[in-house]
Amino acid sequence: MNLDLSEEQKLLQRTVREFAESEVKPLARELDESGQFPRETFRKAADLGLTAVALPESEGGAGFDHVSYSIVIEEISRVCASTGVILSVQNSLYCDPIHRYGTSEQKAKFLGPFARGEKIGCYALTEPQAGSNAAALATKAVLKGGRYIVNGAKAWITNGAVADAALVYVNTDPAKGEKGITALVIERGTAGFKIGKEEKKLGIHATACAELSFADCEVPAANRIGNEGEGYKVALSTLDGGRIGIAAQAVGIAQGAFELALAYARERQAFGHPIADFQAIQFMLADMATEIDAARLLVRKAAWKQDTGARFTTEASIAKLFASELATRVTHKAMQIHGGNGYSREYAVERMYRDARITEIYEGTSEIQRLVIAAGVLKRY
Ligand code: CAA
Repeated sequence: MNLDLSEEQKLLQRTVREFAESEVKPLARELDESGQFPRETFRKAADLGLTAVALPESEGGAGFDHVSYSIVIEEISRVCASTGVILSVQNSLYCDPIHRYGTSEQKAKFLGPFARGEKIGCYALTEPQAGSNAAALATKAVLKGGRYIVNGAKAWITNGAVADAALVYVNTDPAKGEKGITALVIERGTAGFKIGKEEKKLGIHATACAELSFADCEVPAANRIGNEGEGYKVALSTLDGGRIGIAAQAVGIAQGAFELALAYARERQAFGHPIADFQAIQFMLADMATEIDAARLLVRKAAWKQDTGARFTTEASIAKLFASELATRVTHKAMQIHGGNGYSREYAVERMYRDARITEIYEGTSEIQRLVIAAGVLKRY
């Protein structure tokens, strides 16, 4: 078994590391403070192919595999978790389902420009009353004369305030419950589609996370992705890939915090020594390094399985569960090593500590990941 990255993957990793260091890291603090969506960085990331890493070049993607995609999200999130998830949503939650379920006409309109990063996409599943219980979504769509009339509201939509199009999950036949869920692409500017308030959050401030609402919003039937009633499968299979993205984001945040803690421990003097000389600090660093390594291997295993074409639902949830909880533990320790300075906004670990927490919540809470893993080990999938 060879765990080495291929030469191509190593080159991509170096390229993205350089991009992250020179273009993303210098803005991370400012984005955290201003909450501004990083449009210019998104455009530069697109120039490198980072808006559709694992899509074929024929569809506007960069043609890498999903292991490479996980490396990209880790490297970006190592310096800025907001930018990491913005790209993860574009890749996994918007482009991927349109790639898998879209017709060639739909791909020309709703995939190419998004894969090339000329346009921004988002994924609108969650509603104010339907988070973990996604099947209970209440947004309805009725087909009339070749158009769906959509009514309802979505919440917590990453990239939502800036997206040019949203992949919106609606129910076209509520009597059928989850079997009535259907996926529609709804473009910004469609009459009746309103972008609501942006969420004020603990972390990842720059993600343009907003409410979306639809009031008699008329959407051409040609915008339906997959068949009527197929939306729940589109949504859940999409989250399999999305969860790898979030797991990679969590590893990246943890890696970034670990590196800062390591450097600080070498530099900070106490009792006449750098604090790295003390076992209390060494044990924290050892635990951090061990767990990051384990999480990264789980992420790469899940991404590798995705690349084989086999179902990878359980592996994605295992990676997401472990990596997200690890990111919370590692950023906690990184702040502890920094002492009082770590609690100050002057130091990046303070931001990383706040940013890490969401990885245990979005794209399925840790409790949902445990349900999915249990179903997997009990061979329900
Ligand atoms: N791939 C393909 N099909 C799948 C699937 C998958 N991963 N998971 C389930 N399915 C299919 C099943 O095969 C089944 O199909 P049949 O009826 O034809 O057999 C159907 O979907 C229903 O499956 P389950 O009965 O297993 O599903 P469930 O309704 O019991 O619930 C759940 C599953 C795990 C609770 C699921 O609803 C879930 O994951 N909820 C969490 C939702 C979530 O993660 N939301 C995050 C929002 S997105 C976000 O956070 C974005 C962001 O901002 C970054």
